[in-house]
Amino acid sequence: MRNKRLLVTGGAGFIGSCFVMEAVERNMEVLNLDKLTYSGNLLNLSSLATNPLHKFVRGDIGDAELTAKLLEDFQPEAVLNFAAESHVDRYIVNPDSFVHTNVLGTCSLLQTTLLWWKKLPEDRAKDFRFLHVSTDEVFGALKANDPPFTEETPYAPNSPYSASKAASDHFVRAYHETYGLPTLITNCSNNYGPRQFPEKLIPLVILRAISGEEIPVYGSGENIRDWLQVEDHCSAILNVLEKGRIGQTYAIGGRAERANLQVVQAICSLIDELHPDKNGPTGRLIRLVKDRSGHDFRYAVNCSKIEQELGWKQRWTFEQGLRKTVIWYLDNQDWLQAVQSGEYRNWLYLNYAQR
Ligand code: NAD
Ligand code: DAU
Repeated sequence: MRNKRLLVTGGAGFIGSCFVMEAVERNMEVLNLDKLTYSGNLLNLSSLATNPLHKFVRGDIGDAELTAKLLEDFQPEAVLNFAAESHVDRYIVNPDSFVHTNVLGTCSLLQTTLLWWKKLPEDRAKDFRFLHVSTDEVFGALKANDPPFTEETPYAPNSPYSASKAASDHFVRAYHETYGLPTLITNCSNNYGPRQFPEKLIPLVILRAISGEEIPVYGSGENIRDWLQVEDHCSAILNVLEKGRIGQTYAIGGRAERANLQVVQAICSLIDELHPDKNGPTGRLIRLVKDRSGHDFRYAVNCSKIEQELGWKQRWTFEQGLRKTVIWYLDNQDWLQAVQSGEYRNWLYLNYAQR
């Protein structure tokens, strides 16, 4: 029997590369389509450089001619769509790319997949899956005492990023309802772990603490996120791919709600222990800065459905996962240097200079 073949988009990014490594580890064949935007990086996949189970193609999910050819040549059993513009603050700088990739790109990929899928023999068409990776942000913001999001929570996106993800989710759902395309959607909470681009809170704070620079915390630092270790997220996606019910949505969380200031202080303590700064404890670098506009107060996910229906369980506690993440960044400073291009420095200036 041939290995299972997956067409993965955005597989050079933070979560996508973790997923690709896990899938190859499980003997699946992966064709990885990634545009290599600022956050996509082939260094993330260096462990697969000579592995015949992984093939990389640089390209855009919105390029219908290209995706049609890849589907025809590769004949996958599933398409997994990780590709996206993923950083909330960046919309302010480049709104077009969010609509281009998250909305139009996903629609284009759905349409080329549908046209190809319709021509498959019945047994292969039945087994095929289109899995779309989305976010809990589509559900909006929770108050302190609200119950966590579930698959039934109504959509109420507050940021242009989450609005673009919500739009893509609706199109995926509509392709199932209208054309019968066998789709699955996952909505997960904040991921953290190795290889996350240092624009996001956890790697940004690690980088700043290592280099003795100010650590910017938006607003009061009381906003809450539910932190999910990236390998736990990828094992959940594999569970959904293998056992999820067609047309369903699965919410994935880390059962680790923390206020931002708590997370930042925990990182500073780990740096003080593992890589002490000669100028003293790194907590001195923390600065409360001007808030993000429309900053969602709290995200939290109830993941009972995926646990009970598919038997998924997370492996990492937040404390174990955060320690491992800090150690990874300390051990991989070459990676950190390599991703800090001129584009990254320009971004830091645009986002932080006026705060
Ligand atoms: P990332 O920014 O690290 O990676 C995105 C990848 O997509 C990059 O490799 C980039 O080059 C690629 N890409 C962007 N536009 C593309 C296009 N038009 N065509 C092909 N490739 C393109 O993001 P991530 O954190 O790995 O997020 C992956 C997915 O998970 C996204 O859909 C995101 O919305 C979702 N998500 C992320 C988080 C999180 O905490 N990081 C949480 C919930 C959901
Ligand atoms: O919930 C899932 C979402 O998690 C994903 O859909 C997004 O792709 C992902 O980027 C993430 O969004 P957030 O906005 O929650 O993540 P970010 O790391 O940007 O910020 C986490 C929290 O930390 C948030 O409350 C804003 C705050 N923050 C962030 C940065 C970058 C700061 O206080 N200072 C900062 O410099």
